[in-house]
This record gives sequence, structure tokens and C-alpha cells, in this order.
Amino acid sequence: MIFLLATSLYLLTANPIHCSITTNYYQSLINQRTTEALGYKLPTSNNEFKQGVETENFEEYGEFDFVIVGAGSAGSVLATRLSEIDDFKILLLEAGNEEDDFSEIPAMWLYNQFSEKNWGYYTIPQKQSCLGMNNKQCVVPRGKLLGGSSSINGVMYSRGNCKDYDKWYQIGNRGWSSKDVLPYFKKSENSQIRGDKNYHGKGGFWNVEYSAPDSPLFQNFINGSIERNQPIVDYNGKNQIGASHLQSNIKHGKRQSLATAFLDNSRQRTNLKILTKTLVTKVVIDPQSKQAKGVEFVTRNKKFHVRATKEVIVSAGAINTPQLLMLSGVGPKDELSKLKIPIIADLPVGKNLIEHPRLMLMVRSDHAASKIGINKLIQQYLNGFGTLTQAGNVEGVGYIQTKNDSNEVPTIEILFTVPPYIDTSIYQRQLNYNKDVTNSLLDRIDPQKDIFFYIVLLHEKSRGRVSLNSSSPIDFPNIDLNMFAEQEDVETLFEGVEYVQNLLSTEAFKKINASLLEVPICANFKIGSKEYLECLIRNLAGTLYHPCGTAAMGPNNGNFVVGDTLEVHGVGNLRVVDASIFPSSISGHLNAPTVMVAEKAADLIKKEHKCL
Ligand SMILES: Cc1cc2nc3c(=O)[nH]c(=O)nc-3n(C[C@H](O)[C@H](O)[C@H](O)COP(=O)(O)OP(=O)(O)OC[C@H]3O[C@@H](n4cnc5c(N)ncnc54)[C@H](O)[C@@H]3O)c2cc1C
Ligand SMILES: *[C@@H]1O[C@H](CO)[C@@H](O)[C@H](O)[C@H]1NC(C)=O
Ligand SMILES: *[C@@H]1O[C@H](CO)[C@@H](O)[C@H](O)[C@H]1NC(C)=O
Ligand SMILES: *[C@@H]1O[C@H](CO)[C@@H](O)[C@H](O)[C@H]1NC(C)=O
Ligand SMILES: *[C@@H]1O[C@H](CO)[C@@H](O)[C@H](O)[C@H]1NC(C)=O
Repeated sequence: MIFLLATSLYLLTANPIHCSITTNYYQSLINQRTTEALGYKLPTSNNEFKQGVETENFEEYGEFDFVIVGAGSAGSVLATRLSEIDDFKILLLEAGNEEDDFSEIPAMWLYNQFSEKNWGYYTIPQKQSCLGMNNKQCVVPRGKLLGGSSSINGVMYSRGNCKDYDKWYQIGNRGWSSKDVLPYFKKSENSQIRGDKNYHGKGGFWNVEYSAPDSPLFQNFINGSIERNQPIVDYNGKNQIGASHLQSNIKHGKRQSLATAFLDNSRQRTNLKILTKTLVTKVVIDPQSKQAKGVEFVTRNKKFHVRATKEVIVSAGAINTPQLLMLSGVGPKDELSKLKIPIIADLPVGKNLIEHPRLMLMVRSDHAASKIGINKLIQQYLNGFGTLTQAGNVEGVGYIQTKNDSNEVPTIEILFTVPPYIDTSIYQRQLNYNKDVTNSLLDRIDPQKDIFFYIVLLHEKSRGRVSLNSSSPIDFPNIDLNMFAEQEDVETLFEGVEYVQNLLSTEAFKKINASLLEVPICANFKIGSKEYLECLIRNLAGTLYHPCGTAAMGPNNGNFVVGDTLEVHGVGNLRVVDASIFPSSISGHLNAPTVMVAEKAADLIKKEHKCL
């Protein structure tokens, strides 16, 4: 009822109040960028910075209290919070460039991955996963622009389960239990949703709203979930397990990256200096005192050295943070000595790489969405609704406990997507699927009719690793996701598939004749058998783009990289603040938890330097 009301309201305001100049501008922007993306060649190294790296002389860039590496989700929040203190002088260094009108359109999210807004990483060839990808390599997109990965991501707002943070606390991290972190989730939030009382923030910098209107299929998802005994919940509220409407980081339909939400409020401050198109190549650490003193960076073909009088904070994300630490002498001793990098601290940097593997199931139904022209879609977007305001057409979310587990943490997440799709041309590049898979799977997609169920493994047992390929900051690191190394992970995904099969057998889905599309890629196995499903998983599963854990937080016992104040063990004046510090997996998406970490870090830092 509420959904219906909202829909008709939106339709009433859908008059083309924006002049055709604006519509034409967006139409040619979309035409141009989507075409470019299909042919864009991803870089294989940081060659754009080569000339600067190879320059002989350093120029001095002066002195700041804090130098922050990376203006991604965490860096944008941290720079904004620290610069609230007038006495703090802050330098924020970012390898990429600015956001723009195109990256702001949520539905164009995939195309950003084939532009200079993505670092362009792939895994090293995999042995037990990614087998249906070209050269058995999965993509590892990472945002390279202000806002970092939040500027190219799927705008889904999900915090995870309170038990996830209680586990962080149980590992030995004081101040990180669910009770401790809830205020920091609420602090950043400006919630527009019908959520649970006491669990949402109002008036924060970061907007959360529902995209609108709902597809008619959304109600089939909700009804089917109810038939399967799932409660209907606010998954960011009191009870996470059940089915929900997706909550998104959009504002009147446009992407709310952390650069838009936070940095736009702080970048005019005189105590915050932001440098874009700047690669930090090393944290300078005094080998005697083991104190971080500053960083070296390259920008506009020149090489600089800058001093940090209080702290260096690394917020370069779960792939680049471990790379930069290792290049600076902080990492596993054996690996660094092989590359002749002088060791400052022997720590398990780059190990414990955690992902969220996800399998896509294609479902064909009788329901066909009507085709809407791009002009109309743009007009809707400019009025804050419609398909362009959604990334990946996701509307429904289910957090499911497949195992009879008393600890109340979901094992599987289901993402429910609805037609019409406007971005299918980029799917092959998105997934790096080889010819066989592309022909047998992607070419069969009907953009008006198909429903996708993404089945996400929330707590993988397998662990991957980020390691150095060389001692040069020009080379990309080696990324080994190592998904499905543990057979248990395959089997937990089976339970997710079974859940979707059961969902499809409900009245709500029978009504629309929904059925799974078979994939001929695994045709030598009996369809529906365990062997068939395992073949699908090892060939077709990608990730939810959620690497974390590569500089994990915990006690100084050899297993962790930073302590519960996020200071690197055994090194002074050096903190890590980003998704690298997650010690264990999250039952949700990573952006909100990363923002929470940065909010909390800002308070820890202010307290340490006596401003709180
Ligand atoms: C395609 C995609 C879709 C996703 N979808 C969602 C979603 O829907 N919901 C969700 O919650 N999460 C999603 N995520 C994950 C989420 O966006 C990330 O986990 C989160 O943004 C990580 O924040 P971070 O601060 O750790 O790193 P990032 O945001 O990646 O920031 C790191 C920053 O550091 C910069 N940098 C790195 N190295 C250097 C260097 N040496 N010198 C200078 N600058 C450097 C980078 O350019 C980047 O700007 C998605 C991620 C991707 C890539
Ligand atoms: C969902 O369930 C409600 C209540 O039983 C019913 O009125 C409605 O028609 C159902 N909708 C769909 C799409 O199944
Ligand atoms: C789950 O476990 C409880 C007790 O451990 C048991 O009573 C219950 O029957 C189990 N449920 C299922 C579905 O296996
Ligand atoms: C570095 O990468 C190249 C190309 O991907 C690979 O052949 C080589 O083995 C790697 N070296 C190390 C030390 O990882
Ligand atoms: C579903 O399929 C059956 C058999 O093919 C058909 O009779 C029925 O009309 C279909 N239902 C809908 C809603 O189209």
C-alpha cells in the first residue's frame, strides 16, 4: 500500500520539467561513455606515474600534522572529521581524479569499471575458482578517484550483523563490540527509510533512501519470502535475518559517494589540502626509532617528500594498503627479504584476504517489463526515480540462515534483481567470462524478462592473499582470492541455491512461471546434481567486490597487523584506516562498515591528540 502510494506520487511529478538541453546532455554523455567502456583497455601497471617515479630528485612538499593516503570511503570521512579541528593541518593524497555526472548515475556503475576510474586489477590465474573466466582470472575492480570504491560501487547500504562486531571484540579489540560501533553507524547516516527505531541516524552527511518505484516483481519476492517463513525486516535494524527492500546510498536518485557526502562539505577548509592524480609510493619510517615520518609521492611527473608531524594514515583500501605497507618495509619478513626490501616490522600484511563469493542464477519468468526509452529514463532520473537510480537493478535483499546455527548470523545473502536491464552489453567485461561461458550464458539473457538471484557466501572459510610482484610501486600487486579452496564454502553455497529453488516453488513465483535457466557450460553433469552445482560455482562465481582483512586488527601476537586503536604494531605514528583492518567477515556489504571504522578512527585520533 505504501509502495503503491509512493509510486503514483512519483508518476505525478514525472513531468519533463527539465529542459531538453539537459536531457540531450545526459543522452550524449551516456552514449559516449558506454561506448568508450566497451573498448577501454585496462592498465596493467601504474605506468602513468612512471616518469615521476624515475625522477632523480625529491622536492620537499613541507609539513602537515596528518598525511592521509587515499581519498576513498575511509579517507574522505577521516579527512572531513579531522579537519573539523582548526589546529590540524591535513594533506589528503589521492591517485585518481574527480567524480563526474556519469559516475553519479547509479545504473552506470559497471561502465566505470572500464575507465580510468578503476585501478584495473585482476586476480592471478586461479586454480579452484574463476575457471570460466579468461585465463582463469577474476576481476578485482577498485575505485581510483575521489570517493574511491564508493564512487563506482553498487550503492547498497548494509551494515552486517551485530554478532560480526561482537566477534571483533572477542578477538581482543576493545571498543569494537556491536554496542560500541552502533553510534558510529548512526553518526554518518541521514536515513529516509521506514526503519527500526533507535537504529538509524538522521541529519548525518550520508543519505540513505529507497529507490523508487518498485517493480511489480518486488512483491513476488516479498510474498515468496513470507511463504518460506522469512520475516520482513529492516536488515540494518534490530533483526537482520529475513527479507527486505534494498536501502541505497543515493540522494534524490543520485549516487552518494563518500566524496559527495563528506568531502564536498570539507574541501573548502583552509586546513585541508587535497592532491589528486598523486601516487604515494612509500611511507617513510625511521629504521631506528620505527616512527613514521612522512611519505614519498609522485604527481605531475615530479617526485615529492612530505613530513607528517603527528601521523601518517594509510586509507588506500584492502589491495593498495597492504601493497604500500610492504613497499615501506612493513610485512612478512620472508617475502620482503626476497625482494630486498629493508624490514621495519615483520607482520602478516596481505594475508587473511577475505571476500564475498557470489553466484548468479538466471531465472526466466512470464513477466515482461516494458521497454522505456533512454530519454524517458533520463527524465525520470532527473526527477529522482526510475531504473537509472538503481545499480544493477537490485530491489530485494534476503539475509538467510541456511544452517541451524544458534548464533543467529546469516550464512547467505540473496540479492533479487528485476528487469528491464539497460547494461547487459558490459556483462562479459564485468565478469571476464570466456567465450564458452559468454555464448552459453550471457548471450541468452533476455533484458526484459530475466530475474537474477545473486547468492552471496557471507562467511567464507577460504583465505586469499595480496603479495608484492616486485619492489617497484609501478607494478601491480599479486592478488590471489583463492575462493573455494575450502570445500565447506562450496557446500554452504549449495544451501543458498537450494533456498532459491525453494523460493521459486512458492505460489508467489509459480504465478509468474519463474524457473531457473539451465547453463550448458556444465552439461556433462546431471542438471541439479551436486556435481553440476559445484561446476557452476567453480566456473561462474565472481565476487561482490568486497576484499578486506589484509591488515587485520587484533592483539600483537603475530596474527594481526594493527591494534584496536588502528596503529600498526611496532611502528609509531602510523595508522591504517580502511577495509583492510576487518579481522573477520561481515554479514553484509563493506561500505557502511568502512565508514563506521573511519568515524571511530577520527574520534580515536582526536582523543589521542587531546581534542576530545
Ligand atoms: C564495483 C564495486 C561495487 C561495490 N558495491 C558495494 C555496495 O553496493 N555496497 C557496499 O557497501 N559496498 C560495495 N562495494 C565495496 C565498498 O565500496 C568498499 O568496500 C569500500 O568503498 C572500501 O573503502 P576503502 O576506504 O577501504 O577503500 P577505497 O574506497 O577503495 O579507497 C581507497 C582509495 O585510495 C586510493 N589509493 C590507493 N592507493 C593509493 C596510493 N598509493 N596513493 C594514493 N592514493 C591511493 C584509491 O584510488 C582510492 O581512492 C563495492 C566495491 C566495488 C569496487
Ligand atoms: C502478495 O500477497 C498479498 C497478500 O496475500 C496479495 O494481496 C498480493 O496479491 C500478492 N502479490 C503477489 C504479486 O503475489
Ligand atoms: C535446530 O536445532 C534445534 C536445537 O538445537 C532443534 O530443536 C531444531 O529442531 C533444529 N531445527 C532444524 C530445522 O533442524
Ligand atoms: C610478477 O608478475 C608476472 C606477470 O604477471 C609473473 O609472471 C611473475 O611471476 C610475477 N612475479 C612475482 C615475484 O610474483
Ligand atoms: C504459465 O505457464 C503455463 C503453461 O505453460 C501457462 O498455461 C500459463 O498461462 C502461464 N502463466 C502465466 C501467468 O503466463
